[in-house]
Amino acid sequence: MSGSMSTATITFSGVRKAYGGKPAVDGLSFRVEAGECFGLLGPNGAGKSTTTRMVLGMAMPDAGMITVLGQPVPARARLARRRIGVVPQFDNLEPGFSVRENLELFGRYFGMSSSELDAVIPSLLEFAHLQGKAHARVTELSGGMKRRLTIARALINDPQLLVMDEPSTGLDPHARHLVWDRLRALLARGKTILLTTHFMEEAERLCDRLCVIDQGRSIADGAPETLIEQQIGSHVLEIYGGNPHELRALLMPCAQRTKVSGEALFCYIDDPQEVCTRLRDRTGLRIVQRPANLEDVFLRLTGREMKD
Ligand SMILES: Nc1ncnc2c1ncn2[C@@H]1O[C@H](COP(=O)(O)OP(=O)(O)OP(=O)(O)O)[C@@H](O)[C@H]1O
Ligand SMILES: [Mg+2]
Repeated sequence: MSGSMSTATITFSGVRKAYGGKPAVDGLSFRVEAGECFGLLGPNGAGKSTTTRMVLGMAMPDAGMITVLGQPVPARARLARRRIGVVPQFDNLEPGFSVRENLELFGRYFGMSSSELDAVIPSLLEFAHLQGKAHARVTELSGGMKRRLTIARALINDPQLLVMDEPSTGLDPHARHLVWDRLRALLARGKTILLTTHFMEEAERLCDRLCVIDQGRSIADGAPETLIEQQIGSHVLEIYGGNPHELRALLMPCAQRTKVSGEALFCYIDDPQEVCTRLRDRTGLRIVQRPANLEDVFLRLTGREMKD
């Protein structure tokens, strides 16, 4: 094994997985380096959860090679799992157990003693903002509280790698920012994170690198700012209130790319000045100028009619 191979926390090489003859993951390759936050983006049904489940050895690949924390997976997934914290897409808490009991149950699974549990549970309750709910049953929690408990639970064994499938879905903005702060602190301590998300802002803020997948295949990868620069450019002008097709003909020569979206025209440009000059004498237009973002990239790369 070469030196660079051994530093990767996750390697996926030509991985395939089909359900009922239909590919869910279709020849996917990527590497997650130690200490980085790696994001999987893609539309519903793209194969993100299937990918994370294969990382954990919970779904069997039909072909390809997977290593996680130096272990071949699924063959030695159990060994790798001891150093992984998992947030599944759908919470799988014990509904009849209390908040504290759920944390204890998970800790016991990792072989933790009562004193070890006593040492970490208060800080996990604080992290999840559930200090006052330690004895509440899961059925008495709100959706966001359950999500926060699931994320706290994933940290109980002080994992080296976190595998999080849509961790912040269902969280209010306060809770989401709190989770982002906490994840950044974990990254600062050298932990590695694999996450899937539908929040482009989350991916842009947290991820060092991303892989955009669609129909089980990688369609782009790189750092968020690189993808934005390569795919979109620096600025977007959204123009409302005119005939978008007529405006498009007017602006096409000075924009890298234009797109009619309903009643609006989107112009992707590096220099907004010339577009604004051409629109100077137009009245009744509302023009929103903003920096290009990852959502533009996502919509461009995965844009098509909803199929399912
Ligand atoms: N256990 C399963 N049995 C049969 N088909 C499955 C199973 N799990 C996933 N699939 C199929 O595999 C494909 C990928 O699903 P997956 O859950 O990985 O998508 P996803 O990217 O996580 O989507 P979402 O954003 O909606 O969570 C879909 O077509 C789905 O129907
Ligand atoms: Mg999913």
